[in-house]
Amino acid sequence: MKISAVDLFCGVGGLTYGLQRGGIPISAGVDVDRSCQYAYEANNDAEFVPQDITTLTAASLRKLFGPADYRVLVGCAPCQPFSSYSHGLSQKRDDRWSLLDTFGKLIAEIKPDVISMENVIELASQPICRRFLKTLRKAGYDVSVHRVRCADFGVPQTRRRLVVLASLHGEIKLQRGRATTKTVRDAIGGLERIKAGEASKRDRLHRSADLSPINLKRIRASKPGGTWRDWDDSIVARCHLKKAGRSFRSVYGRMKWSEPSPTITTQFFKFGTGRFGHPKQNRALSLREGAILQTFPRRYRFARRGDALSFQNLGRLIGNAVPVKLGAAIGRSIFAHLKKIDKTARLRKSPKMGKQCR
Ligand SMILES: C[S@@+](CC[C@H](N)C(=O)[O-])C[C@H]1O[C@@H](n2cnc3c(N)ncnc32)[C@H](O)[C@@H]1O
Repeated sequence: MKISAVDLFCGVGGLTYGLQRGGIPISAGVDVDRSCQYAYEANNDAEFVPQDITTLTAASLRKLFGPADYRVLVGCAPCQPFSSYSHGLSQKRDDRWSLLDTFGKLIAEIKPDVISMENVIELASQPICRRFLKTLRKAGYDVSVHRVRCADFGVPQTRRRLVVLASLHGEIKLQRGRATTKTVRDAIGGLERIKAGEASKRDRLHRSADLSPINLKRIRASKPGGTWRDWDDSIVARCHLKKAGRSFRSVYGRMKWSEPSPTITTQFFKFGTGRFGHPKQNRALSLREGAILQTFPRRYRFARRGDALSFQNLGRLIGNAVPVKLGAAIGRSIFAHLKKIDKTARLRKSPKMGKQCR
């Protein structure tokens, strides 16, 4: 059984890497952001195609698949337009939300055997999502929609995600993973101690952003699982002292060892943008810790040796990724489905073999 898959909006390859682990070979990934190319190709046996999806034709997409019995098309369009973290961002003003329509149009044109789409839970209630699902059903797909807790797949985060699976050959059952890494301690408890603004000499990705003197005072006053409300008023940000800011509690937080981390966002390396304070050390998460919480293996290479590492860029690429372990579960589910339909198809073609098997 030969499978070939293409990953649209591939980023640095969290989903591609996971799918490959789950048994789905990827021939190409498409993304408009060239800064993803090194990591994508260094860790995956797939070509990186630097292109805007809106300019991709059905004919050129078809060519990206290798020769195969079954074609799989996956895509995780940018989720910021729908995310609960993009407070007040108007979806009408953000062009990225129409990318799901582009994805749907390409599917209807080339009809791959299997589709997978991953995004934030909030997408499910948007008209564009209903339109996407309708396009798939109209094109003959059996569609299933799953609202998953990533922790159930071994991702030590409270992250929740929407996973759409669709096949031209019947229902795909989403297989659970083995949730062995459950807490922040399980994931990053063994890492070398570093200070804010420092990098490990042994692992240059294990580096943490510097903190201003006031933020150092704030993190020293922060309790694991607590909020800025535990601080003395003299260090509380002025906006939080105002009535409108008092309810805003999910910033300047410290994580707890004994729980999963909050959802790793593109800003996970900053103390002031979420609950990304280290449980014990007075600093925000390092880039390595963010990557581990996203379940990237330690050997995943994000930058060339000698290249400068930018918190902003690598933080965005790591935070944007589909957790590898969720990708692997999606891969195993698609593989098991294709194996089953392939076996049935072969039995049908060979009635003699069919009799023996019965
Ligand atoms: C949520 S991230 C995908 C993460 C990726 N699947 C992974 O697991 O690492 C969305 C990606 O869409 C890309 N993107 C945004 N607009 C695009 C467009 N018009 N064409 C192609 N890629 C685009 C972004 O550069 C970003 O890498």
